[in-house]
Amino acid sequence: MSEKAKITVNDKTYEFPLTVGSENETAIDISALRAQSGLITLDTGFKNTGSTKSAITFLDGEKGILRYRGYPIEQLAKESDFLEVAYLLINGELPTADQMDSFSDNITNHTLIHEDMKRFYEAFPSNAHPMGILSSMLSSMSTFYPESQNPDRTDKDVELTIHRLIAKIPTLAALSYKSSKGQPYIYPDNSLSYVENFLYMMFAVPSEDYVLDPVVVDALNKLLILHADHEQNCSTSTVRIVGSSKANLYSSIAAGVSALWGPLHGGANQAVIVMLERMIREGGDMQKWIDKAKDKNDPFRLMGFGHRVYKNFDPRATIIKKSCDDVLEKLGVDDPALEMAKELEAIALKDEYFIERGLYPNVDFYSGIIYRAIGIPTEMFTVLFAIGRLPGWIAQWKEMVSNNEPIGRPRQVYIGAKERNYTSFDKR
Ligand code: SDX
Repeated sequence: MSEKAKITVNDKTYEFPLTVGSENETAIDISALRAQSGLITLDTGFKNTGSTKSAITFLDGEKGILRYRGYPIEQLAKESDFLEVAYLLINGELPTADQMDSFSDNITNHTLIHEDMKRFYEAFPSNAHPMGILSSMLSSMSTFYPESQNPDRTDKDVELTIHRLIAKIPTLAALSYKSSKGQPYIYPDNSLSYVENFLYMMFAVPSEDYVLDPVVVDALNKLLILHADHEQNCSTSTVRIVGSSKANLYSSIAAGVSALWGPLHGGANQAVIVMLERMIREGGDMQKWIDKAKDKNDPFRLMGFGHRVYKNFDPRATIIKKSCDDVLEKLGVDDPALEMAKELEAIALKDEYFIERGLYPNVDFYSGIIYRAIGIPTEMFTVLFAIGRLPGWIAQWKEMVSNNEPIGRPRQVYIGAKERNYTSFDKR
């Protein structure tokens, strides 16, 4: 392969270096394009544009490959634990037993939130969406730990913020659930594992024994691992660009939560269940819904279908679909939404419209069915996505900071009015 790319515009040829990654992905480095030619590129939605070089996650959309720091997602989902995967993503290597103990202890010792933060929950409306609460609470953490706002923070400062974020996000999430139910808050029980503690804070009720179901713990551990990172997706790019202004990590993560909330992104897991419930409620044969999804004049879309990168299958959806059957059977749950989802997938995957566009179930298509089976309320599905994605966001923010990347500031092509003079009201 030639080491350079040539672009010819108006008979002038410019040369640009090629960058080749460890998995042979090749990019044209156009950093000097404007200085050399006065030209910029345009790529709405950044479908063909790399924003950085990253060593965290590799995915191949055509082959359905997803690896965290080189480890296949299938192995991590089967063998690992969410906190261990968090350590791997953030530090780049699997921890030794001592490193894991120390990381786990640090997380355990920061699970409480400042008592004054509880007052915020009393101020939110009882029907407040938990993603709006989570984003607000994470941003407010920068005010309770003002030292985190120092742009010249040390590695130690950043490590403490990382421990606080990972430790407190389950507590913040569970508090929003308890608050919405008008139930007493359950404080963390630090004798429990990370996932057990979250379930305990969510579902335990004072004066009653709460029995953890290992099937539920295992399913949630797997789901959090599968959501932990996904290279430069919308919310991760948001975290990186907010952090590139030297904003603190709490605010950068809060921005990522807001981006994830959208139904085209992490909010899709909630939208899938809403869609399946509507299909069950309104009935009609499957083809009616498939035709609606294909109709450009109909706003209906198959939520949980399609992906910017995966054009054959989303390896996470494959794993989650398999555990759906397993978890629902072990829990004795019979969810008509699962059968509906499987039927929908089977029909769509034979339909030319979906095949030619490479539209397949993504991570959000089946995840909500498991969340529902383990008792998570629908409006909290994306909160679970955020808890899973937090280590990935942190790892990506850290990489951007350690690379000393410049503040993110894209260019544009102006298509508005040319110069004109101001006129007073009587002349308009
Ligand atoms: C996540 O990027 C990541 O990595 C994200 C994520 C992560 O882990 O961070 O994987 C998590 O966000 C998964 C995606 C969750 N979103 C949904 O399930 C919402 C439904 N899907 C779509 O809205 C859509 O597929 C996107 C947003 C996921 C991808 O959109 P793109 O890449 O911009 O593709 P597009 O909208 O340009 O679609 C290409 C074509 C269009 O038709 P044509 O104009 O070519 O005729 O496919 C059609 C679209 O209309 N299409 C769909 C469809 N998704 C795309 N048609 C019907 N139903 C759908 N779901």
